Amino acid sequence: MIPFVTLNNGIQMPQLGLGIYDPQPDHDIRQAVLWALEMGYRLLDTATIYKNERQVGQAMRDSGIARDEIFLTTKVWNEDQGYESTIKAFDESLRKLQTDYVDLYLIHWPVREHRIQTWKALEKIYAEGRARAVGVSNYYAPHFEELWPHTDLIPAVNQFELSPYCYLPQELDYCRARGIQVEGYASLVRGLKSGDSRLIAIAEKYGKSTFQILIKWSLQQGAVTIPKSVTKSRLKANLEVFDFEISPEDMAQMNTWHDNTRVAEDPMDYY
Ligand SMILES: NC(=O)c1ccc[n+]([C@@H]2O[C@H](COP(=O)([O-])OP(=O)(O)OC[C@H]3O[C@@H](n4cnc5c(N)ncnc54)[C@H](OP(=O)(O)O)[C@@H]3O)[C@@H](O)[C@H]2O)c1
Repeated sequence: MIPFVTLNNGIQMPQLGLGIYDPQPDHDIRQAVLWALEMGYRLLDTATIYKNERQVGQAMRDSGIARDEIFLTTKVWNEDQGYESTIKAFDESLRKLQTDYVDLYLIHWPVREHRIQTWKALEKIYAEGRARAVGVSNYYAPHFEELWPHTDLIPAVNQFELSPYCYLPQELDYCRARGIQVEGYASLVRGLKSGDSRLIAIAEKYGKSTFQILIKWSLQQGAVTIPKSVTKSRLKANLEVFDFEISPEDMAQMNTWHDNTRVAEDPMDYY
């Protein structure tokens, strides 16, 4: 049901997956991930800083689904960046996730003084086959321009904030032109825009929720999309986005809504 995209090293990644950043300590992440896997989610997006790698690993085990059917992403946190410390952090992530490889390992933020050496550590991890792909997150063109003289390995993925309200086509084009798969986060804008009358009108037109429209907009940008939910009914609803298309006219209208709404920091603050 969920289509795949092919990354620049030939491996396949589901285009829709589960975001697993949840700051509520009382939420049962293992249960949410288990529901998601039972419903057909196969892409899981966690990070060391989300402090739930252990629960994600346990849910993968409890699901009984073969490891190679799941596309698992985690990320190196800012304080762990640098060459040796990234390798140490990666080992620790694998231990918590109860696995001997991840499908995608990302630099979470482009920490100015460490990002080149951190990338060197990811090159090593990739060469060892312990990550099937490596990439970055929150990189804009200037971060890539700084990286190119130091590497021959093009990041497979760049994960950054993407919604009609945080829509920077030049950043999408920069990645597309270089074969870097864009992965959009906060595609639902954490619900902040569900009252937008323009969005409501489009949702009514297609008989979908505003959340499903936002997911579909992101998918139609060609992005891998990782809406987060720990609620069973929402996990299911967020998958029901493959039975309609937003028309080119409505996409073009939504593409004019950029107002720089961000749930996370601006990557240019890291330049
Ligand atoms: N690389 C980075 O720096 C970075 C930064 C931010 C996020 N991310 C990744 O991207 C993922 C998604 O972003 P996000 O978690 O920030 O925000 P998001 O996906 O835009 O929004 C999540 C919020 O929307 C609610 N929700 C989900 N589906 C819904 C539905 N169908 N109807 C109503 N409400 C719904 C969720 O509630 P419930 O969970 O309570 O159901 C949650 O409060 C993260 O989990 C993380 O994996 C990465």
